[in-house]
Formats: sequence, C-alpha cells, structure tokens
Amino acid sequence: MRIKILTIAFLLAAAMPAMAQEKDKAPAGSAENGHTVYMKYMCYTCHGTVGQGADRGTGPKLAPNPVSFASFQAQLRTPRQDMPPYRKEFVSDQEVADLYAYLASIKPSPAAKELPLPNF
Ligand code: HEC
Repeated sequence: MRIKILTIAFLLAAAMPAMAQEKDKAPAGSAENGHTVYMKYMCYTCHGTVGQGADRGTGPKLAPNPVSFASFQAQLRTPRQDMPPYRKEFVSDQEVADLYAYLASIKPSPAAKELPLPNF
C-alpha cells in the first residue's frame, strides 16, 4: 500500500513540470506572417520594428525572449494599462499565434566581445 502511494506521488511529481509546460506551450504559428501582422497592426510604433522597445517609453521591449504565450495573449486581449486592446473580432487567435512566433524567432544580438574588431 505504502509503495503504491509513493509510486503515485512520484509519478504525479514527475508529470507536473510537463503539465505546466503543456499549459504554457505556444500554438503553432508562422513567424513570417507574424512579422506582417506586427507591421499591419502597428505594434512597431510603440515596441520598435524588432520588438526592441522604445526609448520614448511608448512600449517595453518584447524580444528576444518574449513573455510566456499565456501572458502574451492576456496582454493583447486585455492589456494591463496603457496599451490598446486587440480583441478577437479584429485579431484572430491564429494571428496572435503568428505574432508570438515572430517575436520568439527574434535572435538576441551578439555580445560586444563577440563582435569582430574594426580593421583600420
Ligand atoms: C500605443 C502603443 C502600443 C501599441 C500600438 C502596442 N503596444 Fe504593446 N504595450 C504598450 C505598453 C505601454 C505596454 C506596457 C503595459 C501596458 O501599458 O498595458 C505594452 C505591453 C506589451 C506586452 C507585455 C510586455 C511585458 O514585458 O509584459 C506585450 C507582449 C505587447 N505589449 C505586445 C504588443 C503587440 C504584439 C502589439 C501589436 C499587436 C502591441 N503590443 C501594440 C504599448 C503598445
């Protein structure tokens, strides 16, 4: 009996991180279309053309390493504060997935020490 309970407890504990990941997994999206949608809905006016954020404080940095898909979707549908909402009637779930795929595809810039030295 005890062994059984321990086994069940162990299996549950082992499955939990996988379940959490499953919940937060982004749906499949096209980064290419995401870029088109990002420009079309003018996200870039506040967040910069590659999600780098704006010096003027209009919008925070979005990439590289975007927030989780769940937070991303929540922010688009019901923004926390100053950002305009992007409701389902105007921006489909697929477009949200594509937008996320685009932001997730943005690579970090190389570290300064990895840049080639200027050749004078
Ligand atoms: C008018 C300016 C504006 C536009 C346009 C805009 N945003 Fe935002 N965004 C903001 C601001 C300001 C915030 C900070 C939170 C808030 O005020 O709601 C934000 C926050 C976010 C966040 C949360 C970032 C974090 O680190 O928590 C995401 C993701 C995001 N925006 C994505 C988008 C996408 C995608 C679009 C286009 C569909 C878009 N935004 C269009 C201003 C804007």
